[in-house]
Amino acid sequence: MTENKATNITWHEGHVGREERARVLKQKGATLWFTGLSGSGKSTMAYTLEHALVQRGRLAYVLDGDNIRHGLNKNLGFSAADREENIRRIGEVARLFADCGVLTMTSFISPYRADRDKVRALHVEGNLPFIEVFVNTPIETCEQRDPKGLYKKARAGQLKGFTGIDDPYEEPLHPELTLDATHTSPQQATVLLIEYLEKQGIL
Ligand code: ADX
Repeated sequence: MTENKATNITWHEGHVGREERARVLKQKGATLWFTGLSGSGKSTMAYTLEHALVQRGRLAYVLDGDNIRHGLNKNLGFSAADREENIRRIGEVARLFADCGVLTMTSFISPYRADRDKVRALHVEGNLPFIEVFVNTPIETCEQRDPKGLYKKARAGQLKGFTGIDDPYEEPLHPELTLDATHTSPQQATVLLIEYLEKQGIL
């Protein structure tokens, strides 16, 4: 875990507990952590699930890598250290959202196992559900789709350190769910994810 830089800081406990907030929202918070290659379908699945949950009257929110890099994480690039910090910050934000009672979907490549495991540990420590969803779409499919034209650039040597081409992706060892966008549509993924959340008593 990152060390505290600040000294002389004290934790201030509020008066409202998680249960009380859950009664207001009529739901419990959780983090669904989508991980996988660029173009694997993480964001499409996350946004389709968000839509379905909101239509069912649940408060859900997607934290999306490309979007967050326009704001909160605009000072980060794609070096190993920056990717680590990207995931650390979003792990903390997801934990706060889940603590608030929001069904939170994160859509980040999050290529390093150790970084994802730290986020998991953060949720375990906070007694919050953490569901790692491995979007295991083969790189051939991701590259064929290439929605942003980035694989083409990477292959042409115009983009260095692209995940799956010349930068690593470490697959999850024990994800709660594995989905492959080649065989699973975003709608089918949503059905599976909602079934999972129901089984776990989160919905
Ligand atoms: S992560 O590795 O730090 O988790 P993140 O999910 O935030 O990445 O951002 C990935 C997105 O940034 C990709 O979907 C792609 O659109 C874009 N991108 C730009 N450069 C790279 C790169 N070198 N490697 C991977 N994705 C990149």
